Amino acid sequence: MRDYKLGVIGDPIDHSLSPKIHNLFAKQTKITIDYQPYHVLPENLDSFIKDFFINGGDGLNVTLPHKINCLRSVWGSSSLVKFIGAANTLRYIRSSEKIMADSTDGKGLVQDLKDKFKLFSANVLILGAGGSALSIIPSIENCSPVNIILDNRSQEKIQPLIERLDDPSRINTKIVQIDNFEGDIDLVINATSAGFSGSFKWYRELNINDRTVFYDLSYSNNKEKTPFLEWASQYSDNCYDGFGMLINQAALSFKHWTGIKPDTKITKSDLFND
Ligand code: ATR
Repeated sequence: MRDYKLGVIGDPIDHSLSPKIHNLFAKQTKITIDYQPYHVLPENLDSFIKDFFINGGDGLNVTLPHKINCLRSVWGSSSLVKFIGAANTLRYIRSSEKIMADSTDGKGLVQDLKDKFKLFSANVLILGAGGSALSIIPSIENCSPVNIILDNRSQEKIQPLIERLDDPSRINTKIVQIDNFEGDIDLVINATSAGFSGSFKWYRELNINDRTVFYDLSYSNNKEKTPFLEWASQYSDNCYDGFGMLINQAALSFKHWTGIKPDTKITKSDLFND
């Protein structure tokens, strides 16, 4: 079996757990990889991607702030990438010298949610209306919740997002503004970029009950809860951070490159030293 030249690009990149995760996948699947973090500034993005693949690269993960602009360098994109306009996985087809783009974030979230929450027929509230929200909504929609409810600190961003997501072929799921929704919320997903400093508080009361599940796309290390989950834990014991999504989206990228889906049973203590 051949060796794979892989990596992750971002600015900054020091914090990335991707090298550790992919090296664990490589060990587990007995595939040899050379996976490096690359600090790529926006002005060097196009030349970096081109050089990486010309010089033997097989695959790249793409993180902030390059998820949209990396598409300038690709020959083709999955239908999901075309729809959301962003990618986190680039793959090189050497025989035709073409770079292909995919997005594994939404599918990674749905895979992680599988044994935690039943999306089918549920009312799912998404907090946030930026790129993170957009990247997960199509995959959630594929699982046929009855309503995807959107709320955002800046109300004026909600309607444009709903219009962007409008798909006449969708029949099972409605995408609605929170003001147009009545009923209890089964799952709350935090897709805001509200930072780790300070506490989290949502600006309005939400129709939640003691069975509502809370999921934060952000994750923390072993010891601390994210501010969102700290806030959510006053309402529910069913709180999850995005660590499982991180592992699952990485596993889907690994499969894109190697054809083999690794086992995703990686724990925080496998990655964090303290
Ligand atoms: P991303 O691509 O990570 O989604 P983004 O497009 O900048 O980043 O969107 C960030 C989202 O987090 C937005 O929905 C933003 O709300 P606004 O539209 O009101 O700016 C939300 N956000 C960021 N900081 C927040 C905070 N402290 N409280 C609530 N929402 C916040």
